[in-house]
Amino acid sequence: MDIVSISDIYYDTVKTNKYIEIKGWVRNRRSSKSGITFIDVYDGSYLHTIQVVAYCSLSNYYEEIIKITVGCSIIISGILIKSIGRKQLYEVNAREIKIIGWIKNPSTYPMSSKKHSLEHLREYSHLRPRTSFIRAISRIRNCLFHTLHQLLDKYGYYWIATPIITGLNSEGGGEMFKVSTLDFSNIPMKNNGKVDFKKDFFGRESFLSVSGQLSLEAYACALSKVYSFGPTFRAENSNTSRHLAEFWMLEVETAFSKLNDLISLSEHILQYSVNVILEQCQVDIEFFKNTLDENIVVRLQEFSNRKFIKIEYKEVIDILKKSSQFSNQKIFLGMDLSSDHEKYIVEKHFRFPTIIINYPRSLKAFYMKLNENGNTVAAMDLLVPTIGEILGGSEREEKLDILDKRFLEFKLNKDSYWWYRDLRKYGTVPHSGFGLGFERFLSYIIGVKNIKDVSPFPRTMNNSNI
Ligand code: 4AD
Ligand code: MG
Repeated sequence: MDIVSISDIYYDTVKTNKYIEIKGWVRNRRSSKSGITFIDVYDGSYLHTIQVVAYCSLSNYYEEIIKITVGCSIIISGILIKSIGRKQLYEVNAREIKIIGWIKNPSTYPMSSKKHSLEHLREYSHLRPRTSFIRAISRIRNCLFHTLHQLLDKYGYYWIATPIITGLNSEGGGEMFKVSTLDFSNIPMKNNGKVDFKKDFFGRESFLSVSGQLSLEAYACALSKVYSFGPTFRAENSNTSRHLAEFWMLEVETAFSKLNDLISLSEHILQYSVNVILEQCQVDIEFFKNTLDENIVVRLQEFSNRKFIKIEYKEVIDILKKSSQFSNQKIFLGMDLSSDHEKYIVEKHFRFPTIIINYPRSLKAFYMKLNENGNTVAAMDLLVPTIGEILGGSEREEKLDILDKRFLEFKLNKDSYWWYRDLRKYGTVPHSGFGLGFERFLSYIIGVKNIKDVSPFPRTMNNSNI
């Protein structure tokens, strides 16, 4: 007897008329008066369930099988046959069904077989992977993760584990989570009334990292092509559908690379990986076509085949100035783009993923390279419809004197960045990199509106429980 997963059956790696064993969970049970029970079983390996047919001749039929409810875990052994029913290709004619775990009090089971709203599912991060919806997301997420790693490996990029705990704010602003072992009920204070972090675990104030970029730069300045891919933390005070307090970011950093190289690389990585998803996750994408976005395949094909729009920040300002939607707003060079402005550009004006480059220096982080005009930085943001920014990157300022001026401009203490400055002191090199918000990219691919649905256990304001 072969122990098989349901995907083996659908991908035809198991022969029919063979004796097999399947282990999984019940999606549905229908028992007829004539002594036959049909049980739909999933095991997570494939979108569709497999139908198990049980006859009343089985020894535990009346005592157990007809009492099975949605969610029970079971092990079935039986013969795999081509189904005569039109709804499914295969079924398993059960010889034995063992019930491994019952559902205690089925009427209270939060994942009953009825259709649940995404809001309801969000209340049960621990149980929602039992739905087809979250299982399909999980498989696509897994495929995307491996695809990105494999592609970068193929291109000769080295994976670097950048630290999660850091003493530096690599974005130079924004809210960071503190990491401390101090006793909150008895915090050591200095004479000047400030907290004495010397007494803390790391002997200085420390945080969860908002980006591994600065550490990655150190490795790019030695290994040339590097990337990191890990959890990132932001204590952002915004409870929106596209912000998480803990999200995953792919960061790629390349020595001797300019903005145009960066744009081509990021475009290629994103388009290639969407292509892989279209090829390898067809069944799950089809599911989302039927449940979320009927246009998903065309949208993703276009995404992976057509060059993204590229436009200068100053041209964006011209477009906004001409639009009647913002006629009652002051639109001017140097202003920050709100999410409404970004939406307009990407959803109404171009209706396609758009890369905006060369932002004013004051709008972007201290490390971005000043363009020759002295006003703008060699930066790029990739915006996509519905989600907004999914990727941001830039050339890095490699000249020490200019970097030091930028620290002053941003009121940052350059001594705290001493090791980052060392990279410019000793064999400096032009380099550039980007950060891709993994969950934002995934939300875009799948077509979900809320980023919380693609994060297995989303952490947001007031939610760190499940
Ligand atoms: O634009 P950000 O802040 O850029 C950086 O952190 C750079 N250090 C990256 C680099 O150049 N190496 O963040 C990068 C991406 C954003 O484009 C966005 O997709 C995502 O990270 N992101 C978030 N995703 C979910 N929740 C949040 N709170 C996010 N903040 C940023
Ligand atoms: Mg950004």
